[in-house]
Amino acid sequence: MHMTDYDVIIIGAGPGGYVCAIRCAQLGLKTAVVEGRGSLGGTCLNVGCIPSKALLHASHQMHEALHNFSKMGLRGAAPSLDWGQMQAYKATLVGQNTKGIEFLFRKNDVTWIKGWGRLRDARTVEVDGKTYAAKSVVIATGSESSALPGVQIDEKVIVSSTGALELTNVPSKLIVIGAGVIGLELGSVYSRLGSNVEVIEFLDQVAPGMDSEVQATFEKLLRKQGIQFMLGAAVQGVEATEVGARVRFALRRDGGEQQAEADVVLVATGRRPYADGLGLGELGVETAANGQIKTDGHWQTSLPGVYAIGDVISGPMLAHKAEDEGMAVAEVIAGRVGHVNYDVIPSVIYTHPEVASVGKTEDQLKDEGLAYKVGRFSFMGNGRAKAVFAGDGFVKLLADAETGRLLGCHMIGPGAGDLIHEICVAMEFGAGADDVAHTCHAHPTFSEAVREAALACGDGAIHA
Ligand code: NAI
Repeated sequence: MHMTDYDVIIIGAGPGGYVCAIRCAQLGLKTAVVEGRGSLGGTCLNVGCIPSKALLHASHQMHEALHNFSKMGLRGAAPSLDWGQMQAYKATLVGQNTKGIEFLFRKNDVTWIKGWGRLRDARTVEVDGKTYAAKSVVIATGSESSALPGVQIDEKVIVSSTGALELTNVPSKLIVIGAGVIGLELGSVYSRLGSNVEVIEFLDQVAPGMDSEVQATFEKLLRKQGIQFMLGAAVQGVEATEVGARVRFALRRDGGEQQAEADVVLVATGRRPYADGLGLGELGVETAANGQIKTDGHWQTSLPGVYAIGDVISGPMLAHKAEDEGMAVAEVIAGRVGHVNYDVIPSVIYTHPEVASVGKTEDQLKDEGLAYKVGRFSFMGNGRAKAVFAGDGFVKLLADAETGRLLGCHMIGPGAGDLIHEICVAMEFGAGADDVAHTCHAHPTFSEAVREAALACGDGAIHA
């Protein structure tokens, strides 16, 4: 038996785990990370955020070439798709990113223990028959796709997001189940690459949880791009056929049963916490009914000395939320104060246009009975957006009716995923809409639309 002592052992090297490890090491703690996947970075870097952004970028370029180049006087043969090269580009990007984490581990003196970890007790982690002792353990094991009951994912014809990122060819017809983040991002990719994409969604709107005006505009713009939607339809089953797969669904309004066929079906109906094989049950670590590990205000589980962060605990399943918790729990373990402001966690959908949101939606403010004012500004009034064929969409700011304090921001438009952070910083500082309105914004930038929305909370936007 091989015993090694660490101050902290982190199980899982996704954005929660690897960020936690680096911060622990920076704070002087002897740190190891247990990871069984062949490369670091977890779902996000290997089969999630990063590879999907490669395909979103590449397919957006294709869209630009096909639809906008000639408008700008750029002539030439339309690009044709070399799917193998696009996959190679994606793989190179993933490799660069995952190797980058290996470099950061070496730089910060973080040890990578290769294999799948299991807790023997609160201070002992077993990996491939060897045991390692630690003063604290952080569980950062993330989440996995939660398929529909009875639906067999084969990752070839009936796929989760993982299989959808590496299809052998671009399907002529793709059915996406679920109009959430994964469904709309990957549906956009294949639609732009030429697939006929149909999205079947249980709810009556796309992008669950987003501001309702954003949802309506988003659906309209995606339909304009050629994506078809079957809303209010509960999928009941998916079966492989000789040529593809068949989806059975019932319309919620009248229970009418229908079916549709496609070459490939993407099941994007959410993710569930992943804590398999950790031995938590035997140790009495408390979990919720949905499998989330329960933690206290300092990310400690019911087993003292064992912490949990990221998708495996409560809260939005977002890489950046996990990263923030990773840094905060490292501070706690090092005896400092760790804090995450759960009221200011942005959410972004990386389609074109992008969708971004932070803080409360109007529906939430109404439910809470808070008096608020709304400042809206359309990207049609933004010169820079029009120059790049991106005038669709708007910025909407919500501010306290009396004090003007920012309560939320919802936008759909060019660069929304970056623009939202101005409002995140403002909200962290407790700023009011007038603070944003009084801040000089460079012209011509997309960010002027955010300022104009802030002006619209007061005496009015200039270019509206
Ligand atoms: P989601 O929860 O965002 O959306 C799932 C959708 O499937 C919902 O709209 C739901 O109503 C629908 N649905 C569920 N059962 C259904 C049924 N039987 N028939 C029809 N529709 C059904 O889940 P998604 O898109 O799978 O994403 C999983 C997680 O990954 C989310 O927490 C998301 O935030 C995260 N993620 C975040 C990304 C980002 O920040 N850009 C990118 C990708 C994933």
